[in-house]
Amino acid sequence: PSDTGRVLSIQSHTIQGYVGNKSAVFPLQLLGYDVDPINSLENSAGYPTFKGQVLNGEQLWELIEGLEANDLLYYTHLLTGYIGSVSFLNTVLKVVDKLRSVNPKLTYVCDPVMGDEGKLYVPPELVAVYREKVVPVASMLTPNQFEAEQLTGSSITSEKDGQEACNILHAAGPSKVVITSINIDGTLLLIGSHQKEKDQSPEQFKIVIPKIPAYFTGTGDLMTALLLGWSNKYPNELDKAAELAVSSVQALLLRTLADYHKAGYDCQSSSLEIRLIQSLDEIRNPEVDKVNLDE
Ligand code: ATP
Ligand code: PLP
Ligand code: MG
Ligand code: NA
Ligand code: MG
Repeated sequence: PSDTGRVLSIQSHTIQGYVGNKSAVFPLQLLGYDVDPINSLENSAGYPTFKGQVLNGEQLWELIEGLEANDLLYYTHLLTGYIGSVSFLNTVLKVVDKLRSVNPKLTYVCDPVMGDEGKLYVPPELVAVYREKVVPVASMLTPNQFEAEQLTGSSITSEKDGQEACNILHAAGPSKVVITSINIDGTLLLIGSHQKEKDQSPEQFKIVIPKIPAYFTGTGDLMTALLLGWSNKYPNELDKAAELAVSSVQALLLRTLADYHKAGYDCQSSSLEIRLIQSLDEIRNPEVDKVNLDE
């Protein structure tokens, strides 16, 4: 554990707008990390027209071989988000092995992006690959409610369900699990769980997040990046790391909403682009007393 690290971040890239690496790289850099992005897809998530190239599994592996040939494969962290195909996900598994052969202590932070609000937005074959092969090698997992349900095969509608899902996921592999949002009656609940020793019960906490009546893209990717950044700085205090991350995200979302309002925009009508760059101070110096932490 240290204050900084070198992160290989394999995620989508957008020309304009913030999802994937566009949501994750800047905040991690602000927190002091060297970040090496591999852009898996040129896209505009949330927009109707798609043009451009999609990186396939073989092309990803070529990039890794290039790094290896130059002796550049030492990473402290691997971060992955949205992955669109089984072949790409299988290559990511090869990347995990390869990076761990260079640094056995590599932390793999996996956001198992599969869907939201009851719907899958990846091919259904991906679910089994995440469950059987990816979860077992992840160090930290950051599913949303729907993704945690897919991975555990259980329905999650309460804090207790969320905690039990975390227990199931710990048993499968990762010592840190954060269910980034469970929607309960218009309130969002984040559940965090850290199993400090195998076979011991995990330390669990929740954060209650008032739901802002708007839909944002890229917030899940931002959240996972901040959880990586802060949990590395506070390796034994996942609750504190999550508080810091939530605090930054909430400040950023309120700024986003205020800016759209000022521009006379109806915030209910479509998904909003986050004001990421404008929120640099809130990312570097989150104010934790603004959020509600219960243990
Ligand atoms: P992913 O799909 O990337 O796995 P996710 O669905 O959990 O993750 P989001 O729903 O984008 O990701 O939520 C991530 C975080 O963003 C939440 O923990 C919360 O802090 C914040 N957030 C997102 N939407 C809202 C909202 N409408 N109101 C308040 N907070 C929100
Ligand atoms: N769809 C695509 C193509 C993406 O790349 C992403 C994130 O990277 C998402 C959906 C999900 O975005 P988020 O959950 O961060 O809003
Ligand atoms: Mg969500
Ligand atoms: Na998530
Ligand atoms: Mg998401």
